[in-house]
Amino acid sequence: MTVKSGLTIAHLSDPHLTSLHHVTWRELLNKRVLGYLSWRVKRRRSHSREVLSRTLADLAGRQPDHLVISGDFTHLGTAIECREAEAWLNSVGAPDYISIVPGNHDRYIDTDIAETIGRWRAWMQNDPGQRDKGTDFPYLRVRGPVAIIGLSTAVPTPPFFASGRLGGEQLRRLDRLLETAAQRGLYRIVTLHHSPHSMGFRRGLSDADQLLSTLAGPGAELIIHGHGHRQMHAMLQAGERRIPVFGVPSASASYDDPAKSPGYNVYEVTRAQEGWRTRVRSFILDEETQQFEQVLDKVIMPLSATTGCL
Ligand SMILES: [Fe+2]
Ligand SMILES: [Fe+2]
Repeated sequence: MTVKSGLTIAHLSDPHLTSLHHVTWRELLNKRVLGYLSWRVKRRRSHSREVLSRTLADLAGRQPDHLVISGDFTHLGTAIECREAEAWLNSVGAPDYISIVPGNHDRYIDTDIAETIGRWRAWMQNDPGQRDKGTDFPYLRVRGPVAIIGLSTAVPTPPFFASGRLGGEQLRRLDRLLETAAQRGLYRIVTLHHSPHSMGFRRGLSDADQLLSTLAGPGAELIIHGHGHRQMHAMLQAGERRIPVFGVPSASASYDDPAKSPGYNVYEVTRAQEGWRTRVRSFILDEETQQFEQVLDKVIMPLSATTGCL
């Protein structure tokens, strides 16, 4: 039997919402020139602000309590793009309602954080009153019975690489946060841009094995991510623990490939007698009907409130 307390979270990713029409050649004198050429040739037609608006409108109709956006707001992470993304975030909702993490495109090269992704800090920081340990990630936000833990995998990489990395310090802090949240009886959602599953050394999370080792200790109830630009769901085996992992497509995609149709997920978390009940629904924009169709409706339970194991 389920009791009433719960939370509904919507999840979208990879909006790539910015334009590069204003980029200067000075800004392109590095790895960015490759990303710019890719945008000119293909990516500017692969993402649409109109599609993104439709995704948001459909999602709003589900009346989620909270929205998580798992990175890649920009194409090259320039200061102008980050300001454009900041304005867009302001138009979507208050920092209290939205939690975000950056993606690899948002840290394309090593830039001044304050002038770039630092502008989004209000949407990716600890709840007010929580001790700030001097670094941004992981952050912890508590909404109802849910702890939203945001990680950054966004690090500058060499040309032709789209990989991510968490780093030892972030993993150590994640371990402690997961443990503390479990002691408080919270449902723990870990959010990051890159999949915790292997995606190869050029596109994957370089310290995925260390993340697995960390999760094997305190566990987590759910992991959500972007980056793949397609729907993904699987169980992650972290030591003795099995943790559900969901990835969403780009919310602004206008690809010909139906596997990369734009969409989003909704997670309904409720406390159950035996632990937690998680209902996961996926919605994809159908090219023919031009309506968002539900393509997945999956209930995961029981997840133990203390172990995170299935
Ligand atoms: Fe992306
Ligand atoms: Fe990405």
